[in-house]
Amino acid sequence: MPDRRRASAVPAPPGASIPRSLDARAVLGRVMLDSEFLRDPYPTYRALREAAPLLWSDEFFGGAWLVSRHADVELVLRDARFSAQRTGGWVMHAADEADTNCRNARSELSGFQRLFARAMIFLDAPDHSRVRQVMSAAFRPADLQRLAPRIERTVAERLAAVESDSPFDFVSALARPLPAQVIGMLMGLDEAEGDAPADVVAWSDELAQFVGAPAPSRLQALSAQTALLAMARHFDGLLTRRRAALVGGAQPRDDVIDRLLQAERDGQIRGSAELLAQCVMLLFAGHETTRHLLANGLRTLLSHPDQWRQLQRDRDLLPGAVRELLRFDSPVQYTGRRVATDLMLHGQTLRRGDLVVALIGAANRDPARHERPDEMDITRRSGSSLAFGQGPHVCIGAALTLMEAQAVFTQLLERWPDLALTPPAVPQWTGNALYRGLIELSVQCSGLPANAQTATPTLPPPPFARSPDAACKP
Ligand code: HEM
Repeated sequence: MPDRRRASAVPAPPGASIPRSLDARAVLGRVMLDSEFLRDPYPTYRALREAAPLLWSDEFFGGAWLVSRHADVELVLRDARFSAQRTGGWVMHAADEADTNCRNARSELSGFQRLFARAMIFLDAPDHSRVRQVMSAAFRPADLQRLAPRIERTVAERLAAVESDSPFDFVSALARPLPAQVIGMLMGLDEAEGDAPADVVAWSDELAQFVGAPAPSRLQALSAQTALLAMARHFDGLLTRRRAALVGGAQPRDDVIDRLLQAERDGQIRGSAELLAQCVMLLFAGHETTRHLLANGLRTLLSHPDQWRQLQRDRDLLPGAVRELLRFDSPVQYTGRRVATDLMLHGQTLRRGDLVVALIGAANRDPARHERPDEMDITRRSGSSLAFGQGPHVCIGAALTLMEAQAVFTQLLERWPDLALTPPAVPQWTGNALYRGLIELSVQCSGLPANAQTATPTLPPPPFARSPDAACKP
């Protein structure tokens, strides 16, 4: 871990623009991660970008450098001098927070650390490239297209089950359960085999509490470990059954699990621990992020009724609108890297082993990259944001996410064109600094669903198709 004391002890080198002794509290006049920040981080990000684009903060993992400008975040994500291997200090820092015997706490958490550290997102080349190659095969456009009808059907069923004549919570009705179902489809989880998405959601919530805590407590780490190991045990049983089927001559299924098992057999995945780590990470990454895009995105769109109506008129704007929602209120607000070799940034020396927090949410509002960055504009053409990351670890699930989000927004636009936030519409944020999302989102439709004339719900046309103005317009 970076040495906290060093942050204030080392004087700024001559000509340095940012003295190392500056910390977030000095710049902001308050702790950074207070409730005001969690509600609306964007004014804080602006202050950081303008006053201190490289800043030491004691609030993240016992001490880390924060970068907030688009160019710097991009550099940290792309440059091999910043390593993705960062779980050791992270998990063990939580152990060190314990006021009991530190060594016991560390050994208590070692199972967690061992599994966690093997996930692709925490690997560097060449291991990362080896595992990513296997995983990428499951995310080819043709594979995703095969999933499209199932995703659309699932969305339609979930929306059909909603009592839309009174306010309903969009998070529990759709945003929370759907991504877990979709990632289950991709992986080949079978509800009949007991792989119920409900478990996934609960485990994932526990893990998110830890992963999203800038300074996780030992208790959070232990709960996350319990959830992670429960996920792993669950997968272990499934993998054993699937392995046996393949050995017995069964045709490999077209899903992530069988692809990983074949890669294990061919030596591309090294051992069952590495295989398990990819399964749990994928399940978590696919679920915890997309749910927030759906709910934050709907809230943003309904808060801009003119743009909601514009989408009604022109569905071709939808792909760009989803990208803008990702930029405007990014579900993943930051990620981390560890400095692999001493380097200079903004006149400061960053030492090997220092942790760097790349503030994606801040970079996506950088006026140097995006004109009028604080305005949501679905017709914006200022290029892609960093919402899915960049460089070797760029999100592998980006295309799936866009497909899923378009299916959801298309069907919402068609079913309930006059959907609106339920007043007083005070957003209830989860309070997670990393995964920015809503606990609930109450919405209502003042008219009948567009397909209410039919006795059984009909499937809507595929996403991207234009549709006539629907019936429940006021
Ligand atoms: C709104 C939805 C999503 C957002 C905002 C998002 C964001 C991100 C970001 C920022 C990264 C890079 C992290 C880093 O560089 O440290 C990433 C990586 C990753 N994402 Fe996503 N993601 C989303 C959906 C998904 C889905 C649906 C899946 C899987 C089905 C997924 C799987 C992954 C994986 C496996 C990685 C690691 C890739 C690697 O290490 O090479 N994500 N995601």
